[in-house]
Amino acid sequence: MSFPTKAAITGVHGYVPDYVLTNGELSTMVDTNDEWIVSRTGIKERRILKGEGQGTSVMGIEAVRGLLEKTNIQPAEIDLLLCATVTPDFVFPATANLIAHACGLGHTPSFDVNVACSGFLYALTMGAQFIETGKYRKVIVVGADKMSAIIDYTDRSTCVLFGDGAGAVLLEPNAEGYGLLDSVLHSDGGGVQHLYQPAGGSKYPPTADTVARREHFARQEGPAVFKFAVVRMADVSAEIMQRNSLTPDDVAWLVPHQANKRIISATAERMGIGMDKVMLNIQRYGNTTAATIPLCLWDYESQLNKGDNLVLSAFGGGLTWGAAYVKWGY
Ligand code: ACO
Repeated sequence: MSFPTKAAITGVHGYVPDYVLTNGELSTMVDTNDEWIVSRTGIKERRILKGEGQGTSVMGIEAVRGLLEKTNIQPAEIDLLLCATVTPDFVFPATANLIAHACGLGHTPSFDVNVACSGFLYALTMGAQFIETGKYRKVIVVGADKMSAIIDYTDRSTCVLFGDGAGAVLLEPNAEGYGLLDSVLHSDGGGVQHLYQPAGGSKYPPTADTVARREHFARQEGPAVFKFAVVRMADVSAEIMQRNSLTPDDVAWLVPHQANKRIISATAERMGIGMDKVMLNIQRYGNTTAATIPLCLWDYESQLNKGDNLVLSAFGGGLTWGAAYVKWGY
């Protein structure tokens, strides 16, 4: 039987920095405590990239180097590298350019995708198109964020949620029915005020006033984002199952964006699957924005079997949300 060419994930790797920021340490910085953070979010600790001049690319480079080594692929074989991030090293050039250069990809095309926590899903879908059309044969998709760079560690409602990390996957053509079989992506720019970084862009460039008003940090209306996420992430996950005639029994794993364990549980419930089929690492890493989904795949790689049906699902700033159906290829 022959299948149309799809983009299969043929390798995954991740990187998290060594420094562990625990709930205990956070409770010495702001008025919070381990019990509140764990019961409201599921997070126990997160990783922080420390050091002068250490940007998101540092983590992306580690993830991509590990991926190349593990898959035994030479840098020159890569046709395209995409990096989903909202915390680029610089406003320009793209962090993808920095990662590609440092990993020896030469003049390979590379660019960033900025869609907050849905970034990896968007970039995965985009990378897959280049493979399906036959334009490229080996595409690396990175999700990487140094959220600690834009988090206000005097604001207890956001600083407990986020951490730093990077994950990367290799996409290659597959005509045997494996790979990214479907995706659904959405956005609603009308929700910008619920989750954004007010200053530092072209609308409000940096000034002494924007710095004094702490406008270079992420601002979030937590409960509004929570309500949006619970509905949208659950809806879009159910939608991708329905479009592909997947029953709860057919789904081997839900790979959800790791923002809040309660949002993840609501999504699993809506899909009709138990928490034993849900990839979770929020307790160790918190919300690493574009990195959460590839980091989950990396953490659970040894438990995955060829042919497993995975539903990847995310929501984030934008507002954006989406889901993907992946048939695991190895
Ligand atoms: N420690 C202790 N108390 C706190 C903390 C804290 N860290 N943060 C807030 N509180 C207090 C509040 O001040 C409030 O006190 P009050 O009742 O005296 O006013 C109380 O706890 C309840 O606050 P809520 O905000 O209503 O708590 P909620 O249950 O909604 O949880 C949370 C807050 C965890 C932020 C939740 O709303 C949430 O997860 N929202 C979604 C956030 C999210 O997923 N963001 C990422 C999006 S992805 C991206 O694109 C980056």
